[in-house]
Amino acid sequence: MQIDIQFLPFPPNPHLLSDRVVVVIDVLRATSVMVQALSQGASEIIPIATVEEAFQMAKVFPRGSVLLGGERESQKIPGFDLGNSPREYVAERVKGKKLILTTTNGTKAFRMVSSGKEILAGSFLNIEATAQRCLKSDRDLLIFPSGDGGNLSLEDTICGGMLIELITQKGAPPIVLTDASQCAKILYQRFKDDPIEAFHLSHHGKELISRGFRDDLAYCCQINMIPLVPLFREGVVRFSD
Ligand code: MLT
Repeated sequence: MQIDIQFLPFPPNPHLLSDRVVVVIDVLRATSVMVQALSQGASEIIPIATVEEAFQMAKVFPRGSVLLGGERESQKIPGFDLGNSPREYVAERVKGKKLILTTTNGTKAFRMVSSGKEILAGSFLNIEATAQRCLKSDRDLLIFPSGDGGNLSLEDTICGGMLIELITQKGAPPIVLTDASQCAKILYQRFKDDPIEAFHLSHHGKELISRGFRDDLAYCCQINMIPLVPLFREGVVRFSD
């Protein structure tokens, strides 16, 4: 198995993806929200690129069966039911509902890697389950941090580094790491005792604090709280078997 990580969020060559597992990571906060919402009983999540598309998509389904969630500049979008704080996605709100989600970086990342053989949503909340799923698939892997406005994202890279460390610890050799994967693993080792330190150093972490979402950093930093892995298939995210 080869493990690669793409530091910047641009669409990879589709030919390179057709046989690979891709793990999309947006720790702050889109993939953390997906893991949380499905664990609280949301039936499925449809990741959407734009706000207009999200409103159009909501019209397709019976009233009351869908919720609109997401953010722009970290804030809830006018006319939406939920913002992008995982703490909002509790069973009382989301159980049995289809969720239409649009976020600045995370939901777009799923579209960029849609030609992957198997596309998973990873976060600290479900990191061990994600590692196990990758090992079970036993295919080459591309970790795809969704970044921050097209730039590298420290917290996503560190989460990717943790995934690489878990897979290399638990998997049978040969596991080949690209130089990018080695870099992410080394970076994770720097922060492994206190990943939230990295959140506080990161651009988006600081932005979330300044916008009133400090508690989301602590929430998204919880490791292995949810032993399930969302799978993106045919435009929809659901928990995998
Ligand atoms: C994103 O997709 O860019 C994020 O999840 C942004 C956020 O939650 O503030």
